[in-house]
Amino acid sequence: MATTYAVLSEGLGKRFGTVHALRGLDLAVAEGTVCGLLGPNGAGKTTAVRLLTTLLRPDAGSARVAGHDLVREAAAVRKRIGVTGQYASVDGDLTGRQNLRLFARLHRVRGPADRAAELLERFGLTEAADRPSSTYSGGMRRRLDLAASLIRRPDVLFLDEPTTGLDPASRAHIWDAVRELKADGTTVLLTTQYLEEADQLADDIALVDRGQVAHRGSPAQLKALVGTLAEVVVADADSLEKAAAVLGRLTGGQPVSDHERHSVGAVTTDPTLTLPRLVREMDAAGLPLLDASLRPPTLDDVFLRLTGSTGDVDGTHTKEPAA
Ligand SMILES: Nc1ncnc2c1ncn2[C@@H]1O[C@H](COP(=O)(O)OP(=O)(O)OP(=O)(O)O)[C@@H](O)[C@H]1O
Ligand SMILES: [Mg+2]
Repeated sequence: MATTYAVLSEGLGKRFGTVHALRGLDLAVAEGTVCGLLGPNGAGKTTAVRLLTTLLRPDAGSARVAGHDLVREAAAVRKRIGVTGQYASVDGDLTGRQNLRLFARLHRVRGPADRAAELLERFGLTEAADRPSSTYSGGMRRRLDLAASLIRRPDVLFLDEPTTGLDPASRAHIWDAVRELKADGTTVLLTTQYLEEADQLADDIALVDRGQVAHRGSPAQLKALVGTLAEVVVADADSLEKAAAVLGRLTGGQPVSDHERHSVGAVTTDPTLTLPRLVREMDAAGLPLLDASLRPPTLDDVFLRLTGSTGDVDGTHTKEPAA
C-alpha cells in the first residue's frame, strides 16, 4: 500500500524582510507517525510550524496537510489539526475546566463538559481543574495547552517545543501523551531542542539547518551516518601519539587526542572493528592500555557533525519566550 502523508511540503519558503527564515522546506510525514524537527536556534522550526498550521502564509512552495492544500483549503486544514506552541492560548483568569469547556463549545464538540472532564483526567489536572489556570505551574499549563489542542481530536498535531523548560516528571508526562496519541493514530510533528526527546519519540527526524532540511531519517539511520566512536585511554601522555596512529589505522577516522585524560578517540564505520580487536591491536603495539570503548553515537554527536553546532541537551539553555 502506498504511504499516505499527513504532511507533505515542497519548497516551502518564508522571508521576514531581509531574513530568509525558510528557504525551501521539503517535508514528508507519514500518517500515524511522529516526526521530530530538530535544529539549532533560528533554523526555522517555529516558522515551519506556523506555516504548516496556517498561522502564516508561505511566500514560496506548497504543502498538503491532512489531505488539504495549505493555502487554497486553509479552513479545511485548520479543522483537522491541533497546535500547541508558545502562542496556544489558555485564559489565565478561567479555571482549567472552564478553559477546556470554552474550547469545546467554540469548536462545537458534542458534550463539552464530558470532553473537558475526560481531558482533565487524562492530563492529571482533575484536582486542579477548578482553580484559575494562572495559578498552575509551568508543567500544568503546558498540559492544559496540550489538552486544549486535543479537544477536537485532531488528525495532525503540531507541538512546538512541548517540553522546553519542564522538569523531568512533567516532560515524561508529555512524552507519554505523545505516545498515546500516536497509538491512537494521530500524526504528530514536534520541534524540540532536546535530542533525547527526538530519540525517544520520533519515528523520523528532520534536521533543519538554515531554513532547509539538511538530513532526515530515523534516529538509527542518522546515527549510522555518523558511525561508532572508538576511544582508548593510555597510562601516560607519551603513548598518546602512538595510540592515535594505531587507532587511525583501525578506524580509518581522524583521531582526536585529549592530553589531560590521556585518551584518543576516532569515528569508524567499519563493522568489523570489535572491542576485543581494538584491545588486541593496542596491546600488540605495546601500548599501556587503561580503558577502551566502542560506543554508538548519540543524537548529540549526529547533531554536532551534521549541522556544525551544538544542540541544547543539557537543559541549562534558557529560551526567550516567543513574541
Ligand atoms: N516575525 C518575524 N520577523 C522577523 N524575523 C523573524 C520572524 N519570525 C522568525 N524570524 C527569523 O526567522 C529565523 C527563523 O526563526 P524561527 O523562529 O523559525 O527559528 P527556530 O528554529 O524556531 O529557532 P528556536 O530554536 O530559537 O526556536 C530567525 O532568524 C528569526 O529571527
Ligand atoms: Mg522556535
